[in-house]
Amino acid sequence: MGSQWGQDRYHRRAKSEGYRSRAAYKLLDIQRRFQLIRPDDNVVDLGAAPGSWLQVVREITDGTVIGVDLNPIATVENTLTIVGDFTQQGVQESICSHVDEVSVVVCDAAPKLSGQKSYDQVRSIGLAEDALGFCCTILKPGGNFVVKAFQGELFDDFLAEVKERFWSVRVYRTKATRKGSTEAYVIAKNFRGRRDAA
Ligand SMILES: C[S@@+](CC[C@H](N)C(=O)[O-])C[C@H]1O[C@@H](n2cnc3c(N)ncnc32)[C@H](O)[C@@H]1O
Repeated sequence: MGSQWGQDRYHRRAKSEGYRSRAAYKLLDIQRRFQLIRPDDNVVDLGAAPGSWLQVVREITDGTVIGVDLNPIATVENTLTIVGDFTQQGVQESICSHVDEVSVVVCDAAPKLSGQKSYDQVRSIGLAEDALGFCCTILKPGGNFVVKAFQGELFDDFLAEVKERFWSVRVYRTKATRKGSTEAYVIAKNFRGRRDAA
């Protein structure tokens, strides 16, 4: 029964508690452990569809909440959603035009899986790097960042990059992550600040 039962449990729980996907429990677990988001934080969610992380973020903060995804996101009350590729400059400019000071960036984005493990893993790191790059242009000093990445080749290099930009960095596998998955979350707290902001 083990992992199969676990998947069903989170899925069923999401349905009964009104979350759009079981992914909600990943962010809830991360928040419980690391307190990334505070009650008045402005938060940007990269790769936000179908919107369960947006629902969780909205419950925690009264600040501005913006979600971006390649796919449309059905309305989550009091959040702004943008359809687009967050790696593109125009989309990044659109995000910036809606919020002054970003306290937290969360990124659960995943590339479309090809089924080829090492190829998908490298693409996931590429996306995480893009999220890190963008995050470092919008986050206020002291801000927090969480990003999903598949463990494997290049993961340690990525981790080292994150450590250069944040004072505190941890790798965390959530309870809701499926057994056998290489998915992990890099939890980065206390942004050191923009390099050009001397
Ligand atoms: C696992 S889902 C996110 C689930 C979400 N956290 C939730 O709780 O509902 C990953 C999402 O990343 C999005 N994505 C992947 N690459 C993207 C990109 N470059 N720009 C925007 N969204 C992207 C996909 O379209 C997909 O909806």
